[in-house]
Amino acid sequence: MTQTLDWNTEKLLEQDLAHLLHPVTNLHRHRKSGSLVLVEGQGVRVKDSTGKWYLDGFAGLWNVNVGHGRTELAEVAREQMARLAFQPTFFGLATPPAIELASKLAQLLPHHSHFQFTSGGAESNETAMKIARYYWSLSGQPEKTKIISRRMAYHGIAMGALAATGVPAYHADFGPLAPGFVYASAPLDYRNNPGLSEGDFVAVLVKELEDIIQGEGAHTIAAFIGEPVQGAGGVVPPPEGYWKAIVPILKKHNILLIADEVITGFGRTGRMFAQETYGFQADITSFAKGITSGYIPLGGVGVTPEIFERMATPDRMFMHGFTYSGHPVACAVGLANIGIIERERLWENAEVRGQQLMRRLRELEAHPFVGNVRGKGLMALIEVVEDQSSKKTFDAAKGIGGKLQAASRKRGLIARCNDTGFAVAPPLTISEAEVDEMVNILGESLEEVLA
Ligand SMILES: Cc1ncc(COP(=O)(O)O)c(C=O)c1O
Repeated sequence: MTQTLDWNTEKLLEQDLAHLLHPVTNLHRHRKSGSLVLVEGQGVRVKDSTGKWYLDGFAGLWNVNVGHGRTELAEVAREQMARLAFQPTFFGLATPPAIELASKLAQLLPHHSHFQFTSGGAESNETAMKIARYYWSLSGQPEKTKIISRRMAYHGIAMGALAATGVPAYHADFGPLAPGFVYASAPLDYRNNPGLSEGDFVAVLVKELEDIIQGEGAHTIAAFIGEPVQGAGGVVPPPEGYWKAIVPILKKHNILLIADEVITGFGRTGRMFAQETYGFQADITSFAKGITSGYIPLGGVGVTPEIFERMATPDRMFMHGFTYSGHPVACAVGLANIGIIERERLWENAEVRGQQLMRRLRELEAHPFVGNVRGKGLMALIEVVEDQSSKKTFDAAKGIGGKLQAASRKRGLIARCNDTGFAVAPPLTISEAEVDEMVNILGESLEEVLA
């Protein structure tokens, strides 16, 4: 049982405004709107400091895969902290949780043999891109350094990951960006397909990739990085056959594939990893979020035996890693969290409830300001537009995102809202009734704001 506390909301809000610097936030507007202070969670629901409960339609930040209130994870953390709170994986040191979690991941991603841990998604992608360059450098091709990324990609916002992120809003005012990144199109049917069949649209995307590789020169390109389903940039499930068409092109040109499974990993798309969902295998996989369901920060990367063998070249130190590469408490929680996902076969619920979610969300496409509904498993986006035929987005001055947020929170739902619409990615434990409840609130909120 968790202890119930009385919170002084007024004081917390005052201190929040005075001292907490919020990420990815309009800091000017935040002064007026303030924070929603969350104090407790149970299953798919979270409670605010005034006692009101909400459906956590975004699973925190697409990461609380097993839902809230799993006291067994708290117990595992407590036990590990009491036994041995910290030792690194530097200097030939290791702890049982780091070793055991790496071994578990090698079972789940059998095309990878070795895993290095980080504290989150951006660090994982920094690691993945550095490993790609390291691999080519040790292979006698040090000029293979460029990274191909895609527009609308979100790979985190540390300096290297920021350059791979393909959303211009994240780049503004933080330049210069790290050099050596080139961008391909997002495989977004709604905006980028000029009316072709799915197969022909994939052919156009493949041709564009071939052209980029030819233009840059394959001998200069280390890796292609991609989220199997683009997430924060606008939830983009690729067209049928996309990954199966992209992978051989990369292989043909000796370009490594980095799959950014930070959101898609650990069940969200209906399989444990989206590489299974789409039938491909990356050379390097980066992950974070769902590995601990957010109970404690953890991320990492997996590499193929071929990459590891090259990295294990005699007389070379792999000069990369972080203090918390393999934090024993985080790794112990990660192992227990994967145990829950496996025991409850949560990827299956993600698939079944994801189908229900998409079925119900499609009903909203009848709304005059809904331009597109798209998703895979338990990640989905309802894109709103000012005009369906031109697909024009709403002017920021109209403040649609803020209004959608207010309307949905009033009704007891936390979703990700911006001027593009709603994104949802609930815990993988969500029930049939809870999916219906979530979609009903989304529909009512759209009606209220865009009647
Ligand atoms: C696909 C993907 N990659 C990387 C990241 C960055 O993760 P973090 O915020 O933990 O650095 C995110 C975060 O949302 C993400 O969605």
